[in-house]
Amino acid sequence: MSSISTKATASTFCILVASLILNTVVPLSHSTNKETLDFFTVGRDRSQSKGCNNEFHGISSSFHCQKPTASQAQPPLPKKNGTLVFADQRLAVVYPIIQRFKSIITSDPLGVTKSWVGSDICNYKGFFCDKPPDNQSAIAVASIDFNGFQLSAPTLDGFLDQLPDIALFHANSNFFSGTLSSNISKLPYLYELDISNNQFSGPFPSAVLGMNGLTFLDIRFNFFTGSVPPQIFTQNLDVLFINNNNFMQALPDNLGSSHVLVLTLANNNFTGPIPKGIAKALGSLTEVLLSNNELTGCLPYEIGILKEATLFDASNNELTGPLPSSLACIEKLEQLNFAGNFLYGMVPEVVCTLENLESLSLSNNYFIVVGPLCRSLIERGVLDISNNCIPDLPFQKSVRECANFFTNPRKCPNTWTYTYLPCKFPPSGSPIPSIAPSP
Ligand SMILES: *[C@@H]1O[C@H](CO)[C@@H](O)[C@H](O)[C@H]1NC(C)=O
Ligand SMILES: *[C@@H]1O[C@H](CO)[C@@H](O)[C@H](O)[C@H]1NC(C)=O
Ligand SMILES: *[C@@H]1O[C@H](CO)[C@@H](O)[C@H](O)[C@H]1NC(C)=O
Ligand SMILES: *[C@@H]1O[C@H](CO)[C@@H](O)[C@H](O)[C@H]1NC(C)=O
Repeated sequence: MSSISTKATASTFCILVASLILNTVVPLSHSTNKETLDFFTVGRDRSQSKGCNNEFHGISSSFHCQKPTASQAQPPLPKKNGTLVFADQRLAVVYPIIQRFKSIITSDPLGVTKSWVGSDICNYKGFFCDKPPDNQSAIAVASIDFNGFQLSAPTLDGFLDQLPDIALFHANSNFFSGTLSSNISKLPYLYELDISNNQFSGPFPSAVLGMNGLTFLDIRFNFFTGSVPPQIFTQNLDVLFINNNNFMQALPDNLGSSHVLVLTLANNNFTGPIPKGIAKALGSLTEVLLSNNELTGCLPYEIGILKEATLFDASNNELTGPLPSSLACIEKLEQLNFAGNFLYGMVPEVVCTLENLESLSLSNNYFIVVGPLCRSLIERGVLDISNNCIPDLPFQKSVRECANFFTNPRKCPNTWTYTYLPCKFPPSGSPIPSIAPSP
C-alpha cells in the first residue's frame, strides 16, 4: 500500500495560493508596466484576504487554509483502479480526465507533463490537492496552476469542466485555444479563473454569469469577440480583467454597478461614450483603464465622483469636448491620461492643483490654453501637453491642422457641467471637503 500525502498542509497551501497569484506572468510586451504593477497589487491584496482569511471566504478558505487534523494525517484507504492505487476515490475519478487532457496537448516545451504519470496526482506538476469542502476526510484536486507552462492544447473542454472539486484554475501564458465549455458553470467551488494570455476565441464565456462563488475572472490577452454581457458588471466579482481582446460594443451604463477595484477595458474595440453610470462605482473603483478603444463623445462630469481613483487612462480614443473641472475632485489621482483624443479648450487650472498628481498626459489633443498653474506642472515634467494647439508653446500641431479641427466644432451638451465641482457642491447639498484652491 502506498502512502500518499497531499502537498496541501495548511501553511504551504496558503503560501501556494499567494504565490499563484503573485507569480502570474503578464506579457510585458503588450501591457504597460502600470498594468503589471496593478495586477500585483490586486494579487497581493487578494492573497491576504481571500487565500487565508475565514471571514472573507467562508467555505473556500477552509478548503485552503485549515490545518489538517490528526485523523487526516492518516492516509485514507486506497482505491484500486487496475494496477494504480489512489489515495482517494476522487483522485481515481479525475485520473482518466487528466490523462485524456494530456493526450491532446500538442506542445510542452518545458516538459511539464512528464510528471503527469501514475496515481500520485497530487504531485503532478501544476496540480494541488486539498480536502474538499463537502468531505473533510477526502482528498481532491483543488487547484491548478499552469501559469507560464507554455502548453498548447486545442481546448480545455472535457478537462476543466470535469474537475468537480476545482477551486482555483490559473493557466496564464499558455497556448490554449477554443472556447470555454458552458459546463464550467457546474463547478461548485470554482472561485478564481485565470485564462489570460492564451488563444481563446469566440464570444465572452457567458457560463461564468451567475457563478455566484466566482470572485476572480481574468480573460485578458485572448481573442474573445462580440459583446460583454452587462450582467457581468452586477456580478459579485472583485477582479474582472478583460483588456486586450476584441470586444466590440458600446460601454454599458451599468458599468459602475460592478464592485471591481480595477476596470480594465483597454485595448478592445469598445465604442460610444463613457457612461455617466460609471459614477455609481465611486466607492470602490481605484483604477480605470479605457485606453486604445474607439470611445467617442464628451466626458461626463461624473468621472470626477470616482473619489477612490488613483489612475484614469482613456488615452487613444476619439473623445472630444473640454476636460471637466470635476477631475479636480479625485484627490487621490496620481495618473491621468487623455493623450490621443480630440479634447479642446482650456486645461482647467483646478485640475493642475491635484496634490498627488504624478503624471497628466494631454498630448495629441486640441487644447488651446494652459494657465500658470498648469504651466508649472509642465516645468516639473508632470504635464505633457505636446502636440496640441497652444500658440506659445513648443512641439504643437501646425496652425493649419488646428484651424481644420476648429472649422468643425464638436459641441458638448450641458456646458455648465464642465466647470462643476461635485465635491464642492455635491448634489445632495451637504458640503463635503472642498478641493484645495491654488496656492
Ligand atoms: C479506472 O481508470 C479507467 C481508465 O484508466 C477509468 O475509465 C475508470 O473510470 C477508472 N475507475 C474508477 C473507479 O475511477
Ligand atoms: C468522505 O471521503 C472519504 C475518503 O474518500 C470516504 O471514505 C467517505 O465515505 C466520504 N464520506 C462521505 C460522507 O461521502
Ligand atoms: C457538458 O457535459 C455534458 C455531460 O457531461 C456533455 O454531454 C456536453 O457535451 C458538455 N457540453 C459542453 C459544451 O462541453
Ligand atoms: C479593433 O481595434 C483594432 C485596434 O484598435 C483595429 O485595428 C481594428 O480595425 C478594430 N476592429 C474593428 C472591427 O473595428
